Amino acid sequence: MQIIRFDTAGELDAYAANVMAETIKSKNNPVLGLATGSTPLGIYDKMAELYRGGQLSFERVTTFNLDEYVGLPANHEQSYAYYMSKHLFSKINIPKNQTNLPNGIAENLEQECAGYEAKLESRPIDIQLLGLGHNGHIGFNEPGETLSGKTHVVELKPETRKANARFFDSLDDVPKYAVTMGVGSILKANTIMLAVRGADKAAIVREALTGPITTKVPASLLQTHPRVLVLLDREAGRMLE
Ligand code: F6R
Repeated sequence: MQIIRFDTAGELDAYAANVMAETIKSKNNPVLGLATGSTPLGIYDKMAELYRGGQLSFERVTTFNLDEYVGLPANHEQSYAYYMSKHLFSKINIPKNQTNLPNGIAENLEQECAGYEAKLESRPIDIQLLGLGHNGHIGFNEPGETLSGKTHVVELKPETRKANARFFDSLDDVPKYAVTMGVGSILKANTIMLAVRGADKAAIVREALTGPITTKVPASLLQTHPRVLVLLDREAGRMLE
């Protein structure tokens, strides 16, 4: 596990975007694993900037997103499909049919999960971008007695719904379920890039990176992966010695 700390958010974003760019340039048909939430916003801005500057093309890139809310159609402003289109896909030259997100309104969600997992198996992820939940979740793999390996439907923890309520009109509007890649699906990525910022994540960063490997802190499973790059701002890293 390689841990890199940054003094400013801008530096972290630029570094992460460059790692993505290098991966894209080094492959004929690169596959990126993407996340939503607040953490990747600056990274996506920098990636779009590289595209606008003519330094990067996404023509041959395929993407897989980690998760999607159950019950929100792609045109719902809080769906992750909408987020991706708004913050990245509409700003770069990626063909839409090369972007993949779980379909949260599929009639048969089990079939949707199996189909998503099969697609992931046929196009292994070169680099997976991750954020970190306050409770240690990655994707929407919530802490518990067990974790699922593959793409599955998950019931969101009250604390996760509360944390995400900031994007909705009220807590009641936050979906109770989501489809997420499993921890096993995530760990199959060739390289994982975990980005974390903010003092409110400092304790969970320490637990995930230096504590025991446990399903109660899903991100601690990242300690078992051979190629993890952790990008932290000063606040998120302040509890690591
Ligand atoms: C998003 C996702 C989540 C977030 C995590 C951190 O696709 O899978 O695991 O990465 O909840 O969210 P932010 O970045 O909003 O603090």
